[in-house]
Amino acid sequence: MTDSGSAAARVLARADELAEHSARTDGIERSYLTPQHTRVNAISAAWMREAGLRSWPDAAGNQCGRRTIDDDDKPALLLGSHLDTVPGAGRYDGILGVLVAIEVADRLRDVDLPFALEVVAFGDEEGTRFGATLLGSRALAGSWNDAWLDLQDTDGVTLREAATTFGLIPENIHTAARPRHSLVGYLECHIEQGPRLEALDRALGVVTTIAAAERRMLSFRGEARHCATPWELRHDALLGASEAIVAIERIARDQGSPATVGRIRVEPDAVNVIPGFAEWSLDLRDGTAAGRDATWGLIRHELHRIAVERGLDLEVTSTHVAPEAPCAPHLRDAVAAGIGSTGDADPVELVSIAGHDAMAMAELTEIGMLFVRCKGGISHHADESVREEDVAVAIDALEAAVRHLAAQHAAEQG
Ligand code: GLV
Ligand code: MN
Ligand code: MN
Repeated sequence: MTDSGSAAARVLARADELAEHSARTDGIERSYLTPQHTRVNAISAAWMREAGLRSWPDAAGNQCGRRTIDDDDKPALLLGSHLDTVPGAGRYDGILGVLVAIEVADRLRDVDLPFALEVVAFGDEEGTRFGATLLGSRALAGSWNDAWLDLQDTDGVTLREAATTFGLIPENIHTAARPRHSLVGYLECHIEQGPRLEALDRALGVVTTIAAAERRMLSFRGEARHCATPWELRHDALLGASEAIVAIERIARDQGSPATVGRIRVEPDAVNVIPGFAEWSLDLRDGTAAGRDATWGLIRHELHRIAVERGLDLEVTSTHVAPEAPCAPHLRDAVAAGIGSTGDADPVELVSIAGHDAMAMAELTEIGMLFVRCKGGISHHADESVREEDVAVAIDALEAAVRHLAAQHAAEQG
């Protein structure tokens, strides 16, 4: 087996090992500040140490690693992604990027670079436990908001309580923030989570921009009544929500903005009671914040119309908002050069509809992303799958991208 081949095999075996650390046995679920999070941090810390990094958990529960040969005051290039998952996840979303980064750090452990090299395994990218998203990367990027400490999970546990149980000091989470001058950039390797690379028969792609996103909780309040109530006296919140959700699909399709309603809750949730309350989530994305906002404007107009027609009260709460995050031209070039070194001289460029830690990092430093083909474009599902040979070229490409950047920096420094 070639060196790349054995490294790729190790990455896949490690992804299998991390998949064992799940809150459920019928699929993978690993959320922020859970016992599973503690365990995968400890395991990845050991792998970081084997790769020649010293490793520490930061104040937000991100597991970090830095080459032992790098001085503390040297600005660093960060390679990373996340170890948390959605419920019913696959084993590569986020995880692949952390494991590939560890392999690259291992290969470069003794290489003289004009910057320090770090790996970071973020604790929360998915945001499925507390509603707000990118919590780990936002803490490191300096955009942590202490108001999030009062957010609750579905069991009523607050983020503050979960952080304390995890061993963090809630009031200190914001100290995970890195100073701007301490970084030279952030590079993330991630599965594509779409079908385009597979359709184009390419293993790897260069990300140009990460789409703008916004998440909201929407609700209609009507009147809970006996199911004998005649139609003309009903104010059924679930019928309103159903009409709204179908309208969201129609409008978002017309506008070309991916929209997802992934969660719905009804009260009182009984077979013979007209639902008096319905609450549902909306995740809305678009290549630009302006496009996203235009689509939301049309959706909001329709929600108001439905509310008036059905005699319902509408409430809208924003839980996450992120503008589009363009990748920096020189980091795009570095990723393209990295892919070029693997034999693909004209790499495919892709906009990422999926969100990534890089979005949060873009507020702090320049970002670049490398995408890896995944089978059928399937992600957020147990069938997520990558080819070993694609992982092998991803490791080669990310290493070459770092070396390309190093040469660029060295040339600039003269
Ligand atoms: C994360 O996977 C997201 O795109 O929401
Ligand atoms: Mn994901
Ligand atoms: Mn991800």
